[in-house]
Amino acid sequence: MIAEKAIVERLKKTSQRKIMEYKNILFSVEEGIATVTFNRPKVLNAMNYEVMSELLDAVTVCEKDESVRALILTGAGEKAFVAGADISQMQDSSVLEIQKMMELGHRTLWLIETMPKPSIAAVNGLALGGGTEIALACDIRFASEKATFGQPEILIGIIPGWGGTQRLPRLVGMGIAKEMILGGGQITAQRAYEIGLVNRVCVPEKLMEEARAFALKLAKLPPFALKMAKNAMNYGFDMSLDNANKLEISCIAQCFSTQDQKEGMRAVLEKRKPNFLGK
Ligand code: CAA
Repeated sequence: MIAEKAIVERLKKTSQRKIMEYKNILFSVEEGIATVTFNRPKVLNAMNYEVMSELLDAVTVCEKDESVRALILTGAGEKAFVAGADISQMQDSSVLEIQKMMELGHRTLWLIETMPKPSIAAVNGLALGGGTEIALACDIRFASEKATFGQPEILIGIIPGWGGTQRLPRLVGMGIAKEMILGGGQITAQRAYEIGLVNRVCVPEKLMEEARAFALKLAKLPPFALKMAKNAMNYGFDMSLDNANKLEISCIAQCFSTQDQKEGMRAVLEKRKPNFLGK
């Protein structure tokens, strides 16, 4: 508990929002919405070990801070969300160094995927390699019309290393995932929408507005029910249908331990809007 408090207290409060300063990412929390902006536009927001460490730190804060109810990830600059892992750092790496870097990425993306709070990738431009993989770990993806997606690792003699070989087939099906990963080509935002890789395509100027509006909607919903919905889907997906259905029963039953369940149901019967307290 003391460690958790110490993590959360690192957030500096300004009048409207809370911020934490990093070297490579921007991080702020406003109206319950945490926003992480990858901020190395000169290299198209490529992710090196340091950036991934900062992302892990920021996501850990989001997980622990009760005031954070949803997370948005996006990229700085006109051109890119994230153009992948940093090739200049990787090119002469040893097997052990790469293993360490991939483990750090997996740990971070697993935390994003499984933390109780919902996450939205607001994909503003190129999402290549690790960029697509970061978006895949989020619960929901909104893309600018200008965004492109791809797993081009094969073109540089490697394969995806932050979950692309696993999350992409689970989301879009094995055939299309193989086309993208074996062929290494890029797809447009529109195509990504057609195959179910993104939930919504937005005009570039409206991308953050739409992501924030959806995050705000999520932030007002009962947090424990959101957590249970994520758990049932995330952990049930790889189980047998029978076991997954049992998991679902356990997850819905746990919702009945919350005041928000009582409030939500009472509000329907009393024909008024619910006032969820997050309890
Ligand atoms: N790593 C390091 N630097 C990168 C980068 C990356 N992934 N992507 C772009 N950059 C750098 C470029 O080197 C260039 O730097 P300089 O100005 O210092 O030369 C700068 O960003 C701008 O890029 P370009 O000049 O290349 O821009 P472009 O518009 O001509 O091309 C591009 C854009 C097609 C995305 C091209 O930059 C490119 O092919 N990038 C690599 C994309 C890639 O292969 N990503 C996968 C990485 S591996 C991975 O992610 C593994 C994993 O699963 C974790």
